Amino acid sequence: MQKIKVGIVGGTGYTGVELLRLLAHHPYAQLHAITSRTEAGVPVAQMFPSLRGVVDLAFSDPASGILNECDVVFFATPHGVAMAQAPALLDKGVRVIDLGADFRLQDTAVFEQCYKLPHACADVLKNAVYGLPELNREAVRQAKLIGNPGCYPTTMQLGFYPLLKNNLVDAGQLIADCKSGVSGAGRKAEVATLFSEASDSMKAYGVSGHRHTPETLEQLRKMTAQDVGLIFTPHLIPMIRGMHSTLYAKLLPEAQHLSNEDLQSIFETTYVSEPFVDVMPFGSHPETRSTRASNMLRIALHRHGDTVIVLVVQDNLVKGAAGQAVQNMNVMFGFDETAGINMLPVMP
Ligand SMILES: NC(=O)c1ccc[n+]([C@@H]2O[C@H](COP(=O)([O-])OP(=O)(O)OC[C@H]3O[C@@H](n4cnc5c(N)ncnc54)[C@H](OP(=O)(O)O)[C@@H]3O)[C@@H](O)[C@H]2O)c1
Repeated sequence: MQKIKVGIVGGTGYTGVELLRLLAHHPYAQLHAITSRTEAGVPVAQMFPSLRGVVDLAFSDPASGILNECDVVFFATPHGVAMAQAPALLDKGVRVIDLGADFRLQDTAVFEQCYKLPHACADVLKNAVYGLPELNREAVRQAKLIGNPGCYPTTMQLGFYPLLKNNLVDAGQLIADCKSGVSGAGRKAEVATLFSEASDSMKAYGVSGHRHTPETLEQLRKMTAQDVGLIFTPHLIPMIRGMHSTLYAKLLPEAQHLSNEDLQSIFETTYVSEPFVDVMPFGSHPETRSTRASNMLRIALHRHGDTVIVLVVQDNLVKGAAGQAVQNMNVMFGFDETAGINMLPVMP
């Protein structure tokens, strides 16, 4: 099979280099263009010695036109970048997968409120598909433009989905207590993510409002006819990669007779065919390191009276970003969904 040509905008960032790692050995994709405005001309392997001997391209300027030669372009860039460039690429027949937020929210008023800038291409946005393959695979298959989900929203949606889809819990009282490693904030220099600030300490942030709340709400509303209410509190924890979400949901009176085995069976049945969702035995305590550098997301159920507690772990840079983006590419192009992303987690 002839390999498709892949471009990455934002190749110097954390999700960009993670895309490079995953795509360098992809059986059906060939890296064609990797852009950076600040490092144009610099060999990729000079900046990332982990890629020496594997990636022989140099960073190019995103304005050079080389992206038009690709079959698919990933935007591993801050919000606002993809929506400025995607329409022209789509017009040339290039498919686009945005790891940022530009094509996740269909409600442009909410987007503008969250991201403090007007949406540049509301007409193009209408055709964007929210790229969570486990819940939206058929639409992803047809898509030309993907809004790749945020990292926290991936854990919240896959964790709450079996409960909401089966109308087992009060959707108005969902709680998500989530923790992310520091790479979630990207590679740019910021005081809050300096070693001396972020290590040996832990804190909540965005408690009064985080951008991932409206994205998650928009998707959770598709799972249930009930009104959805979500309290989401993110935390920064002193590790590089990894995300741990603890989700709480109250069983509805008509579902309180369900046994722990019943609940477990509902989750296992929902995800039985999913290559990247592992439902662990009831009462397990999944560790973030059991997913490190892999595209696997692990779920474990607990129960406290009428409250179901769902523990979800993933690698924020893989299933939470670059791995999920490659999974979407695989589905869009009709490749084996696991191609290039079926590696095992790294232990210890
Ligand atoms: N980190 C995570 O865990 C994670 C998870 C899910 C989603 N995301 C999302 O993925 C996107 C990338 O995140 P990241 O953590 O990889 O960020 P990052 O480490 O800060 O990297 C950002 C990249 O974007 C490029 N860039 C910045 N402004 C640009 C512009 N105007 N035009 C073209 N390129 C530009 C930068 O390269 P140059 O400045 O050299 O051009 C850099 O390579 C963000 O939208 C983020 O919210 C991140």
